Amino acid sequence: MYHIPIMSSEISQYLIKNPDGLYVDCTFGGGGHTLYLLNNFRNIKIIAFDWDEASLNEFFKNKNEFKGRVVFIRDNFKNIKKNLSIMNINKVDGILADLGVSSKQLDDLNRGFSFNSHILDMRMDNRNYLTAKEIVNSYSYEDLVDIFYHYGEEYRSKYIARAILLYRKKKIINTALELKAIVCSVKKIRKKINPATKVFQALRIFTNKELENLKILLSDAQKLLNNNGRIVVMAFHSLEDRIVKQNFRQNSCCGVYNIITKKIIRASQKEIAINPRSRSAKVRVAERINV
Ligand SMILES: C[S@@+](CC[C@H](N)C(=O)[O-])C[C@H]1O[C@@H](n2cnc3c(N)ncnc32)[C@H](O)[C@@H]1O
Repeated sequence: MYHIPIMSSEISQYLIKNPDGLYVDCTFGGGGHTLYLLNNFRNIKIIAFDWDEASLNEFFKNKNEFKGRVVFIRDNFKNIKKNLSIMNINKVDGILADLGVSSKQLDDLNRGFSFNSHILDMRMDNRNYLTAKEIVNSYSYEDLVDIFYHYGEEYRSKYIARAILLYRKKKIINTALELKAIVCSVKKIRKKINPATKVFQALRIFTNKELENLKILLSDAQKLLNNNGRIVVMAFHSLEDRIVKQNFRQNSCCGVYNIITKKIIRASQKEIAINPRSRSAKVRVAERINV
């Protein structure tokens, strides 16, 4: 399976306020959420974004099921405003973003996201130049410490960066397996979590400029929503969630948003049992007001 969509029912209940509306799915992935929404709300239309070629291929595989009610745009969602304006669309009724990587991206050893990959790439969009391999092999000690600390909240950033630089004196780091081994040489296993988890998260976020993209999307979203239109964001780690929380708060203070989820929404125990990846999902919802 490409990706099991998380909290589809909850997300659709929060997102769809206009049953005849136009919605944006910023992160199409395998199309799980889009398909759920189209099946359950027969009069809505969706503009779907994803920058990954694999997602584009998945869209074409399912195209008949979508029956002309969805348009796919292969681009970074930070360009949402520009793309909608090219289509002469100024406003939409809701925006959904299910952040991060899909299971397909994570599990595909040829993408270099997983600890067991024989490559080290981590680009979600293969048209971008910067890869994780480039970063670990050419960035300075200070830059690596900074990346691991800021994007992975890795407390052993300095030790790990030093170990990487020592290794680089002998040979190029070619694979995720090598990188994992380097991190494990200076960090012990705690609570059954792989010691390289935070370094891999940091590299993935930095390679794909995930936090920057999210900030631009959030800043444009409030300009694109109709009155009572909603933005629903699902985050998977505290760095993303903090950005969403702050954006919603700021917009709520200046009378632009009404925050719908006073507390974050999480997957039920039943869903977590079926799909363990839903455990870390955090959903926040805001509604555009005073347009
Ligand atoms: C968690 S998956 C979404 C899964 C989808 N909701 C489903 O049900 O199949 C996240 C997707 O967002 C895409 N993505 C992440 N950041 C993006 C960005 N800045 N622009 C466009 N797509 C992005 C990834 O390529 C990935 O396919």
